[in-house]
Amino acid sequence: MPRVLPYADMDKIMSLSKRRGFVFQSSEIYGGLASTWDYGPLGVELKRHVKEAWWQSVVLGRDDMVGLDAAILMAPQVWVASGHVENFSDPLVECRECHLRFRADQLETERCPECGGEFTEPRRFNLMFRTFMGPVEDTGHEVFLRPETAQGIFVNFQNVLNSSRKKLPFGIGQIGKAFRNEITPGNFTFRTREFEQMEVEFFVKPGTDEEWLQKWVDERFNWYVKHGIRKENLRLRRHDRDELAHYAKDTYDIEYRFPWGWGELEGIADRTDFDLGRHAEASGEDLTYFDEETRERYLPYVIEPSGGVDRATLAFWLDSYDEEPDGDTVRVVSHLHRKLAPITVAVLPLSRNARLAPTARNVHDLLRRHFSTQFDDAQSVGRRYRRQDEIGTPYCVTVDFDTIDDQQVTIRDRDTMHQVRVPVANLVNILQDKLEHGW
Ligand code: GAP
Repeated sequence: MPRVLPYADMDKIMSLSKRRGFVFQSSEIYGGLASTWDYGPLGVELKRHVKEAWWQSVVLGRDDMVGLDAAILMAPQVWVASGHVENFSDPLVECRECHLRFRADQLETERCPECGGEFTEPRRFNLMFRTFMGPVEDTGHEVFLRPETAQGIFVNFQNVLNSSRKKLPFGIGQIGKAFRNEITPGNFTFRTREFEQMEVEFFVKPGTDEEWLQKWVDERFNWYVKHGIRKENLRLRRHDRDELAHYAKDTYDIEYRFPWGWGELEGIADRTDFDLGRHAEASGEDLTYFDEETRERYLPYVIEPSGGVDRATLAFWLDSYDEEPDGDTVRVVSHLHRKLAPITVAVLPLSRNARLAPTARNVHDLLRRHFSTQFDDAQSVGRRYRRQDEIGTPYCVTVDFDTIDDQQVTIRDRDTMHQVRVPVANLVNILQDKLEHGW
């Protein structure tokens, strides 16, 4: 089993990510665009599985949740009412000598770390990206790329309530892109200017918010553990009063021990009735809820578990990486949770012999209808096992010459390297059972 501290440093994981097609630098053939990344063939599957695991856990798996997919572009008034135009900013300083810019609250020195120059006075820098809607580029046509998916949920609160007939407490989940013009992005996909969020806005009766905050903190912490991150590499951190966002009464961060130190994976905030109240006031719409039990009308409070897809994906990938001694060599293996691994089952014919090919292809056709699969017949079977270990494939199915006669294949387990022989007729059921209940 892997060790407590992640084995991987960032250089290792970045080079593996590129070599095996997880993450590429965006626009690389033009020299790259700073801190912008593209997910390759394996990365896109890993990230899709992270999102599916989240959606299953917080939307499909619960009676008190529904989903939403709101537009990235929203009426500009949304961002005035939400407080983002006024408050969503970081303190920016500029070096008077080399003109590099930094976030003042992240600096450890009073002088420019690049050239030792003096800084300007800090000024507030709004993090929202702006663009124009339609062919006229003036302030009347200015819109923002959303800096959080949450506001799409708040402005649809009445629509969802009326169409889904949900009763409080209930929540709305959403996964989607968000954009922030970060002053200092960095650490690979950890802090970027374009990223994906997975957010829940959970609407509760005022007065029950603190209890629901605790429930969601536990629920979300356990989700990371259940999907393979070792508890030792996770911690909860409650925000100090002076670091709370402008909308929050209380917030807990779930942090991961990244190679450069602890960093936030997800924040769970008590947003009170701040957003619904502001939107009701600014739009003139009634956003209250009628509680049939108590015959009262009120603005619900909101508990918001808000996580980053890219950060979660990076943490799962980092935490799973391991190097195990194997004779004179080292086995690089990623112990990704079986449901997150980009490829769930690899089908490996023992050789490229023409007699084996039709049987092996049939097995692959059978499995690809149920799982993320890969067919690999290049090089020795030992090397192919290693390739699959490195990308975290939990099961390899080997097709050999006996398969042609006895219709049986071998399943090899990534972590124990144990092999079992099973009938092809039972293969889908056996793998589904393993996937659901463990090795
Ligand atoms: N709606 C609340 C909200 O947006 P946040 O703490 O600013 O709260 C939530 O963001 C999550 O989004 C973070 O925990 C992080 O995982 C992710 N996130 C925020 N900024 C990011 C960035 N620049 N790059 C990558 N992920 C980011």
